[in-house]
Amino acid sequence: MQIIKKPEDAWYLIFSGDVSQKVGLVPTMGYLHEGHLSLVRRCRKENEKCVVSIFVNPIQFGPDEDLESYPRNMEKDLSLLEREGVDMVFAPDVSDMFSDDFSTFVDEKSLSSGLCGASRPGHFKGVCTIVLKLFNILRPDRAYFGEKDYQQLQVIKRMVRDLNLNIDVIGCPIVREKDGLAMSSRNMYLSEKERNSALLLHRSMLKAIKLVEEGERSCNMIKDSVMEIFDSDPKISAEYVCIKNSITLEDMDYLYSEAVLAVAASVGRARLIDNTRLKPL
Ligand code: PAJ
Repeated sequence: MQIIKKPEDAWYLIFSGDVSQKVGLVPTMGYLHEGHLSLVRRCRKENEKCVVSIFVNPIQFGPDEDLESYPRNMEKDLSLLEREGVDMVFAPDVSDMFSDDFSTFVDEKSLSSGLCGASRPGHFKGVCTIVLKLFNILRPDRAYFGEKDYQQLQVIKRMVRDLNLNIDVIGCPIVREKDGLAMSSRNMYLSEKERNSALLLHRSMLKAIKLVEEGERSCNMIKDSVMEIFDSDPKISAEYVCIKNSITLEDMDYLYSEAVLAVAASVGRARLIDNTRLKPL
């Protein structure tokens, strides 16, 4: 497994290979867990070359967010990726990616505005900018993203379409702990008690799915019963509970086609997100 730090070295390595070989990329911020590794395994299976990037991207964090304390463990990440048979890890320093006078950004204007974009202004601009840079440096044919970050996945797909990038963006299912908690690098912020409260995110998804199975089609009714679950525990504070069209991310009043229920909530210092499809048929 090659470990590359400098963008110019990655470019050379990609282009010195056999051009008929497909390159798959899994962009990450490290502190890898089974969710990340599920993307890596799919990438390996579908491409001749599997590249993983590890970069805690400063420009997607707001001024009051957890950039400094974001968990990092490069040594462990590299050994996990080695075991998965990854061909190349791209792990640049911040100074390799952003010069002091860096001044060019990609700003998707529609899908980025609601959900997490509402409380994290500039977040998706930071995500799009770094992902486009990674695409340009590593030139993948396919790129793998988790449905855990559902809005991010849709925003990246839109960017790829709008900017005519010749890359297949592939969404992969959410990987959960045995008890249902969606895996996340930020789960390490949770104490044992907080972790119990965090389970309400998944529990609320299951309740919504059940309501839809029983015939409920009013989005307000579904959102109210999800909110009831969050209101039952003072340790969890819901930031949003939304039902959106799964592609356009527009609000839905009535479940006439497939939708996504997306929630964000804080437990202690951890801001957690989760989502599920709601299928009315
Ligand atoms: P990060 O949070 O490290 O996540 C990297 C990828 O792993 C994302 O595509 C994310 O959706 C996916 N992922 C995380 N937890 C998952 C889970 N439980 N199940 C399935 N997939 C999961 O997302 C980012 O980094 C950054 O914003 C990035 C795209 C790398 C840009 O900086």
